Order: sequence, then C-alpha cells, then structure tokens
Amino acid sequence: MKRIAVFASGTGSNFEAIHDSILKGNLDAEIVLLVVDQPKAAVIEKAKRRQVETLVLSPKEFPSKKDYETAILQRLQELKVEEIVLAGYMRLITDVLLTPYQNHIVNIHPSLLPDFKGKDAIGQAVAAGAKKMGVSIHYVDSGMDTGTIISQESFDVEKGMTLEEIEHRIHAIEHVLYSNTLKKLWEGTK
Ligand code: GRF
Repeated sequence: MKRIAVFASGTGSNFEAIHDSILKGNLDAEIVLLVVDQPKAAVIEKAKRRQVETLVLSPKEFPSKKDYETAILQRLQELKVEEIVLAGYMRLITDVLLTPYQNHIVNIHPSLLPDFKGKDAIGQAVAAGAKKMGVSIHYVDSGMDTGTIISQESFDVEKGMTLEEIEHRIHAIEHVLYSNTLKKLWEGTK
C-alpha cells in the first residue's frame, strides 16, 4: 500500500475522488497527509470530515520558498510519504521537494498538454476555439505543467456547449482518470 500525500489549494473535488477510490478498494493507497497552502481552502473541511491529517502552511509566513517546502518535506519524511499527488495545487514545486521525490510527484491539469499550460486552462482553450479538450496527468518538474505526460483523455467539444458544461465534463473525466492512472502507475503497468 502506497503512503501518499495530496497537495491542494482549493475546492478539493479531486482529493475527494481519490479518497473515495481508496475507500472503495480501487486504489491501494493511504492518504497520510493533505498539504494546503491556502488557509481558507474548502478542501480543509473535506479532509476534516474524512479524518485525513492536514498540514496548512501559508508560504508568506516563511522567510523563503525553500523554508516553506523544507517544512513540508519534514512532515512528509516523518510520515514516510512515498508519493505526492498534486490536485489543484497552484504553486510550482522546487528542488527541495523535487530532488527527494524525483519521479514520485504527479499533477493533473485540465487541458490536453502541451496546449494551454498554467492558469485557467479551460478558459484558454475556449478562447482559442479548441475543438477537442481534455485532461492530462503528468510527472512534475520545475516548470509549469511541463513534465512528461503519463495519461490523457479527450472529448469533442460539441457546438453550443456552455462553459459550465465543458467544466462539468472535464471534472467528471478528472475524477475517474486520476485514480485509474495512479493505480496503473503504482502497480507498474503504466
Ligand atoms: C482541477 O481542474 C485540476 O485539473 C486543476 O485544478 C482543479 C482542481 O479542482 N489542476 P479541485 O480542487 O480538485 O476540485
């Protein structure tokens, strides 16, 4: 069983989907820590209800990003975390975490990478008139959504689809694809 940490900054629907998948026995893992960088993020309450230990750290309260990530690393090591899963974590990761967790940090991004990296990827794709949209799961490196792609799922954008419908479709894909990809990855079949 993998000992994992989920990092999130916001709503936490992907955190919940992964946790549900573990509870159902689909994913052989335990979320031993949720790391949150936004003290008011809705995901904190969700983790509390699910009795998942949460580390809420505000980067601005640390002298540097290095100190902030060092504090996270310390707790990860105390808890013997093996894998880091970014789920709506809105920060770049630096060498403090990348070095000890090389090839063990993954992220989910709501676009068909390498298109539409960074913030508001769905909005970027809609503005560009993309005919195909989707979700990517990739290894994390020091860039913004630049690491090696592990899996992707796409759909055709139908004429007249509203932004809300597109977002709904993307999130529905995310909530299934992330757990399925992690399962294959950690079983060594991906
Ligand atoms: C997801 O769309 C994910 O792809 C992106 O941020 C969003 C997080 O949503 N990186 P949630 O907090 O998991 O609901």
